[in-house]
Parts: sequence; structure tokens; C-alpha cells
Amino acid sequence: MQWGMNAQSQSGDLAEVYLQISPNILESFPKFRPPVALYRFDPAVAQVKKYHDAEARLAKERQEEVAEFANEGTLFLLRDDYRVYAQHLSKNLGLVLTEEDFTPQEVAEIFFIALRDRMNEFLEQPTEEPLRGLAKDLSILVEYLWIDPVRVERLTSSLHTEYDLAGHSVNTMFVGLALFTMVVRGKYERATLVSLALGLILHDLGMANVPRFILDKPQKFLRSDRDSVENHIDAGVSKLNRLKLRDPLVMQCVTQHHERVDGSGYPNRIMREGLTMPGRLCGLADAFCAIASIRPHREAKDFKQAALLLLKDGERFDPTLAKLLAVLVTKGVSEYLNQAA
Ligand SMILES: [Fe+2]
Ligand SMILES: [Fe+2]
Repeated sequence: MQWGMNAQSQSGDLAEVYLQISPNILESFPKFRPPVALYRFDPAVAQVKKYHDAEARLAKERQEEVAEFANEGTLFLLRDDYRVYAQHLSKNLGLVLTEEDFTPQEVAEIFFIALRDRMNEFLEQPTEEPLRGLAKDLSILVEYLWIDPVRVERLTSSLHTEYDLAGHSVNTMFVGLALFTMVVRGKYERATLVSLALGLILHDLGMANVPRFILDKPQKFLRSDRDSVENHIDAGVSKLNRLKLRDPLVMQCVTQHHERVDGSGYPNRIMREGLTMPGRLCGLADAFCAIASIRPHREAKDFKQAALLLLKDGERFDPTLAKLLAVLVTKGVSEYLNQAA
């Protein structure tokens, strides 16, 4: 990439400020109204200049010019706009596998938005078609992680703290996959990761049946409220059965994520050995993501506080996993895997 060499020599941090818009990225944007401001590297003066305002209409000739710039590698956007362009790129998730210039934060945001949207589609209509869409995007995520398991760290660095069911599901999956990567020290079968990712993201699928007003209650739950919420496990299992989704890892995540090692959980008060690894893993990731997100009745704890709280709760959670969670939020996956190697 010739310009890149020139630009790098002119300004070392150009790539930190701007992301090159490849023809594939450009195609993900609406043709007539690019969602972000466009910039062009002018080789004559070796400078990046604004070419077009965000959301402004792009005339036909300018569209052709923009396509040409993208082809020659001189078209850019501001990385600071990542929340905006991630929204568009998430519709074309495969780009994450082919484009090499994304920062970890951009990748995490693109995956988060794509999977949250897919999950929302599935929650609204829990049938086979939306499930296939979700599974397709999950397979891209697994492919991305498979290339280098340490990449899972990128995902956990950008969890969303505002609470909604689909977002919580994605957060839980990111954290659960990171914990799993640490447990198995980066060595796993691709098919296992696909099943686990699906189980983690679907763990609360029965929650869509719980009335919104109960979940949003700022005051303490009544016994009847608690019954409604606890019923999300049975509702989830019914949905899995209707979808004929009988993968054991998915079942274990859905049925056991509220069970606790000391038998204090629900719905079956399963204890110790009876509680499977995916059930423990999903339970811890779920609890962590719930504590670390903003709810109607309380503020979010920061990640370190949340992990510490669960570590102290050694009776209820798997102590090995709780320790790994603390390592994950303080040191990260890569350092742990490097030490373990
Ligand atoms: Fe749950
Ligand atoms: Fe949950």
C-alpha cells in the first residue's frame, strides 16, 4: 500500500487517528449518505483532508470519486466515529475476518452490535430462521477467535454497562468465552466453542417471557415477582425444546446458570459435582455481567469490584473460576496464557 508508506513516514500516528476505508467497508455504508465524515489522503501534499461531511448527501459524481479513492487506498474515516460505523459494519460481519486494520475496540464494538441485533431479532421471534441468523454470526465470532484465542480479550475489554436483555446476553457470552479460554489454556475444539457461545448467549432466552414492569421494578421483589423471574429457566427450556435445540452445552447453560455450588441456587438446588462446568461458567459470567451493569435499583459496579465481590462469595461460585475472573479483569487473558504456557 504505497500511500501507507508515505503517510507513515509523514506521520507515525496517522493509523491511530484514521481508518482506511476499503472498497468492502465503503459498500457497507449507504451510498448516498455516508454515516461518517470522509477524509482523503492527498499524496501531492502528503496530508489528510476532510472530503465529505457525515450524513450529507453525496452527489453521483462524488460517489464515483469516493469509490475510486477507496480503490486506490486514499479514503479514510476518523476512528473516533467507531460507534457509528460499527453499526453499519455489523451488518456485514465477515469484514472482521478480512479487514486487518481494525483496533480491538472497533472489533469488539462491531461484534457486540451485530450479535445484540441478532439476539434481539431472535428474542422478538424465537423461531428457527432468526436462530440461524444468530448462529451464522456466532460462527464468524468463533472463526475470529479460532485464529488466535487470545483475541477473546479484545471482546471483554469493551463490555456495555447499560442493561438490556440482548446486550446482557452478549456481555455474558464474551466473559464466558474468555473464562473458558483461560480454563482450557487456549486449547479447544472449534465445535465446542460454537456450542458454548450459543449456550452463553441464549442463557436467558426465557427472560423475554417475564413482564417488563417486574424487571424494571426499582423496589425489592415480592415473592410473586421472584417466582415470575425464576420461571425464566422453565420458559427457556420450553423454547429450546420447541426449536429442537438439544445441544447439551446449550441446555446446561440455560438450565443451570442460576444454580450455585453450595446448593443455594434455583430451580433444582443442584450441588457441587452435579453442577456442570458450562453451568458454573455461565452462572459466574452472568452474575458478573449483572453486577457490572446499570440496573433500575442500583449503580453498576466497576469490573474489578464486581469480580472481587464474586471471589469473596466463594461458597456459591466455583472458586477456581472466580479466581480466573479476577485475573481476567486485572491482568487479562494474554498475560495469563503466556504465563501458563
Ligand atoms: Fe438468568
Ligand atoms: Fe442472565
